[in-house]
Amino acid sequence: MDSLALEVEDLVMHFGPVRAVDGVTLRIRQGSVVALVGESGSGKSTVGRCIVRLLEPTGGTVRLAGADITHLNRRRLRPHRRDVSIVFQDPAGSLDPRLSVGDIVGEPLRLMRRKDISAKVSESLRRVGLRPEVAQRAPHELSGGQRQRVSIARALISEPRLLVADEPTSALDVSVQAAVLNLLADLQRDLGFACLFITHDLSAVEYLADEVAVMYLGQLVEQGPRARIFGSPAHPYTQALLSAAPVPDPAEQRARRPVLLGDDLPSAIDPPPGCRFHTRCPVAVDTCRTVVPERRTIGEGGHQVACHLVNDDGTGPDVRPVASQSQLLSPGREAP
Ligand SMILES: Nc1ncnc2c1ncn2[C@@H]1O[C@H](COP(=O)(O)OP(=O)(O)OP(=O)(O)O)[C@@H](O)[C@H]1O
Ligand SMILES: [Mg+2]
Repeated sequence: MDSLALEVEDLVMHFGPVRAVDGVTLRIRQGSVVALVGESGSGKSTVGRCIVRLLEPTGGTVRLAGADITHLNRRRLRPHRRDVSIVFQDPAGSLDPRLSVGDIVGEPLRLMRRKDISAKVSESLRRVGLRPEVAQRAPHELSGGQRQRVSIARALISEPRLLVADEPTSALDVSVQAAVLNLLADLQRDLGFACLFITHDLSAVEYLADEVAVMYLGQLVEQGPRARIFGSPAHPYTQALLSAAPVPDPAEQRARRPVLLGDDLPSAIDPPPGCRFHTRCPVAVDTCRTVVPERRTIGEGGHQVACHLVNDDGTGPDVRPVASQSQLLSPGREAP
């Protein structure tokens, strides 16, 4: 069996009455990239923060390379710190303005009382495409893209097994997003760390991810290999989410009609009973309103879904409009 960089089992994170994460189970193999997608407020960042133990989970377990870190205190967490790093959305907010770039990038090693830090800082800066002289500068002297390269250099300097990247490009200028994304992809391939890639950018998911996990109101509704999720999404929410994403081909884009989910995401304080998605699901039936759907495996590569209406072979409802299919027929041609 492949060894696992991360095992999250039935993770729960409540903030008082807010059930931000409510039973998430997720595994990431060494060296593979799992994208975590879902609309704003679904709990993606909270999962990420539990994994790097910026938060102590309310329930469940987090294992890094086999070690249970769920409730370790600061001191006992220290030996595991080098195994996992996080890159945040906003590099301006996550870099201490009083420190030089070199101090920022070297800090994880200083906390581990390592030697030869400045050589490693230069090496880490070089890896992310920055000159070693940048170490003397202050973060505010750099552009947004450069600052995000600095946070990546800092995150990777300890050679972690796992990187949590929480929307690493979404705060950047569109013109530099692709470069930073390419950099992450190159580094992942060269260094071989596992990655939990949290994003709203589905084209980035197609480009980077081996697997996709779809989150809705604190829970995973579907997960599986990228090609399965994009090619035959089973959960109505996944179908809706994918149909709302822009596609590069303008003709196809015009032909598409996103599935409208109507209302906003329901409150995480009082989530709907039964399937949490039933209040917005175009195909919900009575069972969906009362019975919580179990997660089931529906295909190869661990394709799993939690929906009453999906069959065991993965077939089931398709809530996407057929507009793009009808476009494939040539105009004027009659059906036989
Ligand atoms: N520290 C906190 N205290 C109280 N509620 C919180 C806290 N952090 C997050 N939440 C709530 O938990 C839920 C999930 O938030 P989270 O930030 O994890 O979502 P997200 O999927 O990352 O959203 P986005 O895509 O906007 O980043 C939201 O309802 C949010 O308001
Ligand atoms: Mg977030």
